[in-house]
Amino acid sequence: MNLPKRIGVLTSGGDAPGMNAAIRAVVRACAYNGIECIGIYRGLQGLIEGDFKELNARSVKNIINRGGTFLKSARSKEFRTEEGRKKAFENLKKENIDALVVIGGDGTFAGASVFIKEFNFPIVGLPGTIDNDINGTDYTIGYDTALNTVVEAIDKIRDTANSHNRLFLVEVMGRDAGDIALNAGIGAGAEEILIPEQNMGRERLVESLGRSKKSGKTSSIVVVSEGDQIGKNIFGLAQYIEENLKEYEVRVTVLGHIQRGGSPSCYDRVLASRLGVGAIDALLRGETNVMIGIVHNKVISVPFSEAIKGSNEIDEDLIRVADIISI
Ligand code: F6P
Repeated sequence: MNLPKRIGVLTSGGDAPGMNAAIRAVVRACAYNGIECIGIYRGLQGLIEGDFKELNARSVKNIINRGGTFLKSARSKEFRTEEGRKKAFENLKKENIDALVVIGGDGTFAGASVFIKEFNFPIVGLPGTIDNDINGTDYTIGYDTALNTVVEAIDKIRDTANSHNRLFLVEVMGRDAGDIALNAGIGAGAEEILIPEQNMGRERLVESLGRSKKSGKTSSIVVVSEGDQIGKNIFGLAQYIEENLKEYEVRVTVLGHIQRGGSPSCYDRVLASRLGVGAIDALLRGETNVMIGIVHNKVISVPFSEAIKGSNEIDEDLIRVADIISI
């Protein structure tokens, strides 16, 4: 593969805090290495529609601290079609772009992988999602910020839960992965944490809450991952608990998209910067069809085929810790 002279960068799928820091790092690593950098707006959809703008080191000033993505993002249905991908390839040729950096989740990497096979076009990916559900990297860009947002919200909920001796069910994001729920739950001192990787069942949940009530707890927080089976109908679960654990009045808070916004944490800014520089390093080494991730605090490359294999395994020891400290 010839070394790239002009690359494109885009953000795709659900946005995540730190995406701007990642774009900034990519753009500046390009400038540092004498590579031209083109911003592609609205993700893979913008690639199909030719929504391009040249970026230089100064185009990305004052964005390291900003949430969202200034390049905007989309979930493109058209890119799933052969015709859509062909249009995208034509646009890249027209613009003389010879490699791409895509920042997104497993859906983005799956699409990129197909594109590489069809057009033999070099692409490197960066994991950008709050869910932390990408195989082959310990952390994804945006996850740490989302955890802090959730913990801050639960701390506030705890104040009112305490004042009224209530039980709160707090639903958090994560699609099919329990990472946000488990780690934020531990950090916020939740009494119970429901995650898709572990099926607790309503009866066991009520039994456990009943025991902790008897042991002297006056209020309780249950963190429920959106993908958890018994949490799927969170209002139904609240009703079930009220009917079977009369001592508690139950309230529900769905945190929703608040978890995707906000200024990125320092951890996410540093991670995004390291991975952004890592993406250009990888392209300069002639790598393609890989995601740049972090494992044991080292920047590494993983084939897209590995990255899209499904979520990172849940750490069983975290579940054990959560059980012990919520007694
Ligand atoms: O993948 C990030 C995420 O926020 C998931 O946690 C959630 O299930 C999904 O995106 C929501 O997607 P949308 O913003 O398209 O509704």
